[in-house]
Amino acid sequence: MSVAEVAQAPDVTTEAAPRTVGLATPHDSAVRHVCGSAVYVDDIREPEGTLHLAVGGAPVARGRIIKIDLGAVRAAPGVVCVLTATDIPGCNDASPVNAGDDPILATDSVEFHHQAVFLVVAQTRDAARRAAKLGKIEIEADRPLVSVDDALAAQSYVLPDYTFLTGEPDTALAASPHRINGSLRIGGQEHFYLEGQVALAVPGEDEMLVYSSTQHPSELQAIIAHMLNVPAAAVTVEVRRMGGAFGGKETQAAQWAALASLAARITGRPCKMRLDRDDDMAMTGKRHDFRADYAAGFDADGRITAFDVILASRCGYSADLSASINDRAMFHADNGYYLPAARIVTKRTKTHTVSNTAFRGFGGPQGMMAVERLVDDIAWSLGLDPLDVRKRNLYGEGRDLTPYGMRVTDNILPEMIEALERTSDYRARRSAIAAFNANSPYLKRGLALTPVKFGISFTTTHLNQAGALVHVYLDGSVHLNHGGTEMGQGLFVKVAQVVAEEFGIDLDRVKITPTSTGKVPNTSPTAASSGADMTSMAARAAAATIKGRLIAFAAEKYATAPELISFRDNHVLIGNRRTPFAQLLREAYLARISLSSTGFYRTPALNWDPGKAKGRPFFYFAYGAACSEVVVDILTGEMKVSRVDILHDVGRSLNPAIDMGQIEGGFIQGVGWLTCEELVYDKAGRLLTHAPSTYKIPCASDMPPDFRVALFDGPNREDTIYRSKAVGEPPLMLGISVFAAIADAIHSLAPGKRVPLDAPATPESILHAIHQLTQD
Ligand code: MTE
Ligand code: HPA
Ligand code: MOS
Repeated sequence: MSVAEVAQAPDVTTEAAPRTVGLATPHDSAVRHVCGSAVYVDDIREPEGTLHLAVGGAPVARGRIIKIDLGAVRAAPGVVCVLTATDIPGCNDASPVNAGDDPILATDSVEFHHQAVFLVVAQTRDAARRAAKLGKIEIEADRPLVSVDDALAAQSYVLPDYTFLTGEPDTALAASPHRINGSLRIGGQEHFYLEGQVALAVPGEDEMLVYSSTQHPSELQAIIAHMLNVPAAAVTVEVRRMGGAFGGKETQAAQWAALASLAARITGRPCKMRLDRDDDMAMTGKRHDFRADYAAGFDADGRITAFDVILASRCGYSADLSASINDRAMFHADNGYYLPAARIVTKRTKTHTVSNTAFRGFGGPQGMMAVERLVDDIAWSLGLDPLDVRKRNLYGEGRDLTPYGMRVTDNILPEMIEALERTSDYRARRSAIAAFNANSPYLKRGLALTPVKFGISFTTTHLNQAGALVHVYLDGSVHLNHGGTEMGQGLFVKVAQVVAEEFGIDLDRVKITPTSTGKVPNTSPTAASSGADMTSMAARAAAATIKGRLIAFAAEKYATAPELISFRDNHVLIGNRRTPFAQLLREAYLARISLSSTGFYRTPALNWDPGKAKGRPFFYFAYGAACSEVVVDILTGEMKVSRVDILHDVGRSLNPAIDMGQIEGGFIQGVGWLTCEELVYDKAGRLLTHAPSTYKIPCASDMPPDFRVALFDGPNREDTIYRSKAVGEPPLMLGISVFAAIADAIHSLAPGKRVPLDAPATPESILHAIHQLTQD
């Protein structure tokens, strides 16, 4: 479906059709993105005297620091000074949850290979990087725990286990007519944002201005203030845009901004820290890899009767966001399926590797993988089409309670799957593929249609709040500011559309401005896909306050009932009078009416009790379904995606062009995670895949040659902004259809047998699965 075809029907709850909201408006920076004139942190004109930084990292993954010899570093050309943990005046911790386990510079010990130990401040970036190599760090090394298996064997955890329980899984399992045990490994993922981690700190009289590529300016402000021992009010963090983030800059932009601020404070000069790609890959966290082990029961129709699953993840050396990430894996261990009896346990293992962090989906994708494999297992063992097993297990009437006690009241998966099954021609292609495979010894085709149900809201309930600041100037232009950050996802244009709509003015009258802790305080990270939902509401509230004042003023001045005043087409209709917007502003100004306001929003209806592990953590669910066809070469393990059909639910789209981009991009990123992107650590804990030479992300030629994406037409049943739905993360999980299609292709080699395919399904992994399947 083309973008033009998905133009939205007006919201039934507003009297007049929106003029700006719902239009396929281009990204506000689209032209600048492609011309190279969009300013990222490294493009900001450097202030006179800017110094450049590089870090010296741990030579081993685990051990006690005996001695740090920095003589040669200090003597190197261009070096201004070299700093260590003892130079930090305040708190040496960048933990997002105040765990005290994320030193900005290491103190007595190191816990992963390349951990930052010292900081070189030099005239040029090249000088800093060359000098950093000259440091001698003597370590009494210990054997690192590298993998989940290592950590489980040593019972090494960053956080305690956590369990969801519903029904009586042991009894239900014992009573089940069929039982199955399974295990699946799910790989991690490097964010590979095009713009790496970067920050520029500019010292003032007794304040610090920090430009950073971060999803969480308020957290940086707090960490920097603590580190420098200054009030938060003395630190301002500004973000115009990021060149991609994907969760990788939710917490892990902080350390680099802190180091730049430390050096700026000590030298009194502006300092810039920009990580080289290899350093970025070695020194910053990634998606958690998981091992899932499960026992499940099911009936003769393939309906799940019991699910008992342990999800163990590699958290790395510190807590970071691992608590909520593992929680979100648990919240999505059901995906779209009703589990009448379930025990869902997560084990948060501590390893001597970089601290893993948020990544699009935030543990949800990993949680879904286990149950999607279970559904395939069931289909294979009963000789059913996996799609039929999926459909039979969906939430439905009388089968609507999640393992965490929230009822699914907005389920549209059954109709979405029916629709996609029809439009993708699933059944006919299923038979055609069976016929093809029967006559093709080496090339095997596979097909899978998988659903996505993704919970929208931060599960850390207090984060579900947002603020905005709107100024209206007398020429009718509007200065828009809010706590959300732009990472390419199109948040800024969506919020601007909502504000333009509120004032009834053209979109180009709304000036988008950089996110700044000085304008909107105490913000949440732009994450959990909630940016547009929450920030648009806050910005609309700010605009509505100003509009309310203008209406009250005009009602009095023109003796007109407030209900007869409306804002449209850059004019204000006051009864029968039609006044240009800017003219009313001038009249209001002369009458001393304030034309500036803040706005605030908190997501309603949330009620999650982590102690009981029951409640309503999500405002609503976003849904999607994808049907993917692949062809696998069973001699080489190579794989190609031949066709993809997607039907995705964004409610009533705020901007269908942006949403289509999010769906396509998210899907491909999910396919990359599950097929070609592989993180390899050696036994010493060194990341071997630390550059694009060895770490393969999908490229343009990996786009499916036949790619059909459509938006599901239907409003959000909850009262969200113009009844839209969040779109940022959910489409990533549509990529699971490709993984399932690969398993389906392999399954054709030995019908009835279970396919032991682990993720990512690289050619090696595919060959391994084929060998195991055809040998025993
Ligand atoms: N899209 C682009 N182009 N770049 C990104 O970094 N991050 C994703 C998603 N889409 C990302 C993106 C992630 S992880 C999240 S949580 C959401 O965008 C955040 O933005 P939103 O809440 O405004 O959707
Ligand atoms: N999603 C993304 N980021 C978060 C969350 C979440 O649920 N909780 C805390 N940070
Ligand atoms: Mo997205 S992983 O919530 O930043």
